[in-house]
Amino acid sequence: MYGLVNKAIQDMVIKGHGEEAWKGIRMEAGLDDERIVSLKNYPDSLTFKLVGAACHQLGAEANDILEAFGEHWVLYTAEEGYADMLEFTGSTLPEFLNNLDLLHLRVKNLMPELSPPQFTCENETENSLELIYQSKRDGLAPMVVGLLNGLGKRFKKELQVEQIAHKADGQGPDRFLVKW
Ligand code: HEM
Repeated sequence: MYGLVNKAIQDMVIKGHGEEAWKGIRMEAGLDDERIVSLKNYPDSLTFKLVGAACHQLGAEANDILEAFGEHWVLYTAEEGYADMLEFTGSTLPEFLNNLDLLHLRVKNLMPELSPPQFTCENETENSLELIYQSKRDGLAPMVVGLLNGLGKRFKKELQVEQIAHKADGQGPDRFLVKW
């Protein structure tokens, strides 16, 4: 994944636990070079190693780290120069969720090797929808829960998020029921 993702993990760890904690995680993950370049494409394995090392060093579960990371991502990208892109994606939560693929298409202009997730909205009502999440990667559904919570805060909505189908259980793609 592009360095922007690894930098967001670094930012979350340093803000929550300090520089020393980050150094421990970075070293355990084998990231010797201190500087992460946002627009460089790193192997996915590095991102997964950083998450694994964060679990170990902070004594946390991977699901909790990924969920916290998803929530942090919404704030981090806005601070890192992507505020306009977020703004263009939608002025309401359902509009935003329907335009997630368009958002990543715009990102792909800057990051040509991007391998983005795909999202579809189904069964929309005035105060709920089902979000289907598809990715070539496994194990990132908890991040989507965090992303949704972050977006709930962005749109000042009290959200309830429930995962109602799990790719890992062979139930088809991950599916989330989102209510507000
Ligand atoms: C302007 C804001 C955003 C930017 C710049 C951005 C960019 C990226 C980048 C660089 C990756 C790594 C993929 C790769 O390098 O191949 C990624 C992955 C991902 N993004 Fe976004 N993104 C943004 C907002 C969002 C939002 C709001 C969501 C909400 C659902 C989202 C969902 C995801 C997920 C779940 C992944 C994990 C990769 C996967 O599932 O395969 N992103 N995004």
